[in-house]
Amino acid sequence: MALERTFAIVKPDAVKDGHIGEILSAIEQGGLKIVGLKLTRLTADICKGFYHEHVGKGFYPELEAFMTEGPVALMVLEGENAILRWRDLMGATDPAKAAEGTLRKRFGASIGRNATHGSDKPESAAFEVSYFFNAFEQV
Ligand code: TYD
Ligand code: MG
Repeated sequence: MALERTFAIVKPDAVKDGHIGEILSAIEQGGLKIVGLKLTRLTADICKGFYHEHVGKGFYPELEAFMTEGPVALMVLEGENAILRWRDLMGATDPAKAAEGTLRKRFGASIGRNATHGSDKPESAAFEVSYFFNAFEQV
């Protein structure tokens, strides 16, 4: 299989709790390469564009409040089968259901405050990477 790129976020809870380093470490230990990386803070409008598929759902207002409450680390990850491998490292959306040792199990508190984001399929990865990173920001 060819190299694939995916998009990752260290969400505001994990940044605030000081877990950026451990999460970057898990990515590198997991054999994925970090090819884009920046710290920023999402606005409500940026969040709506990013989570366009969820705008209008019952949980969206809470999701937006959470994602804009503090700084986030945004990343582009590269590797063979990177999309699925990053989802595996994160674990299930709900930390209570995530496998032992996964990042959401380790650092997530609830389904809403679940520490990390990862693209779910190639089309989302392409959209999400280009939403936040231009060509000069990826090595
Ligand atoms: P989703 O895309 O379904 O999950 P994932 O992040 O694993 O791709 O949902 C996006 C985010 O929305 C999820 O990480 C946390 C939040 N969310 C809730 O707060 N409650 C919910 O019931 C769902 C499904 C998601
Ligand atoms: Mg998703």
